[in-house]
Amino acid sequence: MATKNQSLGEFIIENQNDFQYSSGELSRLINSIRLAAKMVNHEVNKAGLVDITGSAGEINTQGEDQQKLDVFANDTFIRTLTKRQIVCGIASEENDDFITIEGQRNDHGNKYVVAMDPLDGSSNIDVNVSVGTIFSIYRRITPVGTPVQLEDFLQPGNMQVAAGYIIYGTSTMLVYTTGNGVNGFTLNPSLGTYYLSHPNMTFPDDGNIYSVNEGNYSHFPQGVKDYIKYCQTEEGDRPYTSRYIGSLVSDIHRNMIKGGIYMYPRSSKAKEGKLRLLYECNPMAFIAEQAGGSASDGHERILDLKPTELHQRVPFFCGSKNMVAKAEEFMTKYP
Ligand code: AHG
Ligand code: MN
Ligand code: MN
Repeated sequence: MATKNQSLGEFIIENQNDFQYSSGELSRLINSIRLAAKMVNHEVNKAGLVDITGSAGEINTQGEDQQKLDVFANDTFIRTLTKRQIVCGIASEENDDFITIEGQRNDHGNKYVVAMDPLDGSSNIDVNVSVGTIFSIYRRITPVGTPVQLEDFLQPGNMQVAAGYIIYGTSTMLVYTTGNGVNGFTLNPSLGTYYLSHPNMTFPDDGNIYSVNEGNYSHFPQGVKDYIKYCQTEEGDRPYTSRYIGSLVSDIHRNMIKGGIYMYPRSSKAKEGKLRLLYECNPMAFIAEQAGGSASDGHERILDLKPTELHQRVPFFCGSKNMVAKAEEFMTKYP
């Protein structure tokens, strides 16, 4: 039971039995994410005071300029998860290949893998706008005791056992699901403790916000163009309001609270869209569905897609279920 103002630590212990396999390992895993997120939060808050903003001078595996905070967040999450001997493998936006973790405790004995976007919306760091972290957790499918394999990471999103995000915003929040609804915890920075501030988060079935990078309009498929025009047409509760931060975590977080749709469609510039299936779309889709919303690639449920690559990109439509259904309706006119 979600009790308001309960600390995250208490909540994790109390709800441990909700997990299908309650060995305590998943609880410890979420605990270590909670800790790493506090370290990243501390660093994000200092941005501007210390030399942590700007480019790290490296290009990551997807051809994107790595920011110093991307590197810091990546190292922090990897170090925390590795040191605590909780997972057998980690896939990250910032690493070409997945990382195999050899346990000292029990060689390759851990059951879980994590896919993560350590810092989402990193182009917003230098301008003091919200950024986030996204994580997705699976039980491995290869035998425990053997090194983790690519196939452990390429499971469809409907096999996730937990997923969540941290938003480093005006306040810092950790929002996650283990398949029993979505709960949001706000960090009290002076105590260093997260408290349950948003129990049982739900996407309103309808909304009046649409979030898309309209600068790409002329490159969008006709179905998306028509849906955007529908959002802007004066009729009933329309036109909708346009809101786009450029940080997936923040855009979805706002839309979950207020009601809305987030879209990152394919375009003639980005043939498969921009967002990555494993550590952006799947975890956000799991959260959205658990909150009563939905997530689609424009035609199919995101969580049913079978990944083929670690850094695979997919078009993404996520939010209030009636809005996503409407967008899909426009998309089906142009198969
Ligand atoms: P990341 O910072 O992890 O690379 O992710 C950026 C993503 C996502 O957060 C955001 O919604 C989207 O890129 C914004 O892209 P555009 O600038 O193309 O709109
Ligand atoms: Mn991202
Ligand atoms: Mn990122």
